[in-house]
Amino acid sequence: MNERLSRRDFVRGAALAGVAAAAAPEVLQGFAGAPAVITRAARSLVIASANGHRYRAGGRQTAVEKAFASLTSGADVLEACVAGVNVNELDPEDTSVGYGGLPNAEGVVQLDSSCMHGPKKRAGAVAALEGVRTPSLVAKAVMEHTDHHLLVGKDAQRFARQMGFTIEDDLNTDTSRRLWLEWKRRTDPEHFPGKSRSDAAVRAGLSMVADGLIDAEHFWGTINLDALGPRGEIAGATTTSGLAWKIPGRVGDSPILGAGLYVDQDVGAAGSTGRGEANLYNLCSFLIVENMRRGMHPKDAALDALRRVQKNTVEKHLLNARGLPNFGLVFYVLNGKGEYAGVSLYPDRQYAVCTENGPQLLDCDALLTGTASDA
Ligand code: GLY
Repeated sequence: MNERLSRRDFVRGAALAGVAAAAAPEVLQGFAGAPAVITRAARSLVIASANGHRYRAGGRQTAVEKAFASLTSGADVLEACVAGVNVNELDPEDTSVGYGGLPNAEGVVQLDSSCMHGPKKRAGAVAALEGVRTPSLVAKAVMEHTDHHLLVGKDAQRFARQMGFTIEDDLNTDTSRRLWLEWKRRTDPEHFPGKSRSDAAVRAGLSMVADGLIDAEHFWGTINLDALGPRGEIAGATTTSGLAWKIPGRVGDSPILGAGLYVDQDVGAAGSTGRGEANLYNLCSFLIVENMRRGMHPKDAALDALRRVQKNTVEKHLLNARGLPNFGLVFYVLNGKGEYAGVSLYPDRQYAVCTENGPQLLDCDALLTGTASDA
């Protein structure tokens, strides 16, 4: 059997999805006991960052394939999203997420994740969580078993232990540890806190990207995956090891609703990868969903948010020689009609989709020309 989900599997899945859509009642039962009114029957669709179609964790399916297959075999839409991102969290080769994610400045892997369920209108998140390979499952447990949204640090880990998750001493792999040691070698060993240290840390990290030691997309790497189910139900999940070599305790956009992820069952979903702080200052996922609510196509909605990011990026150390942002930021967006887009600041990024036609990597639409590091 071919490693990838065969086209026949997809056609069969799509046919089942089509039957389900045709037979789906207007009122969808079963979410928290309350009927949720779903007014559209759309094709199933999964969109993700490009790493969503690059890693298989030793199995047959990438994240988008896994999520799509789950969706079309009847799984809950958020179950499908989380099953998808679990592939990347468990694959040590994806150094941007979960097990083997690039650690913080002290060599500790600290993970952030959020998830959001459109029909249930509920979300959960964890930040700075250590010792659990699949933070997205802990985020989902926060959603399902508490009346809260976000648990952090040691207490997020305690919650995970109480929920039965295995807690490991260290989520580093040989690769992530070797890269951290290389970063230590390149930075000032004295490690003074403050902006100059943090600029030096980023410069050392980017020099490792330039030397081909780290995948450019793994520096602020993350996976976001959003799905539209056969009955129009929408959900998303974002999970990350965050900025490589970050100051311990630093939390980026991934676990923050409206930044790393936002889902509105009446509209669509948006999520991000890239420089979390730029996204946090502008709450772009929320902005994108609100833009779509006002009728914008996913691509235009995300371009508008990126224009806001560009306008609000004024600090010199964040600008290249052309006066433009010197970092990457990408949004993955879908709406309830099944329209979607991957949109980045610069035209060097791809995104993954999976439909009844199978998985694909596509080039992102970009706001700017050139590259982030253009002199
Ligand atoms: N977007 C991931 C982060 O900044 O942590």
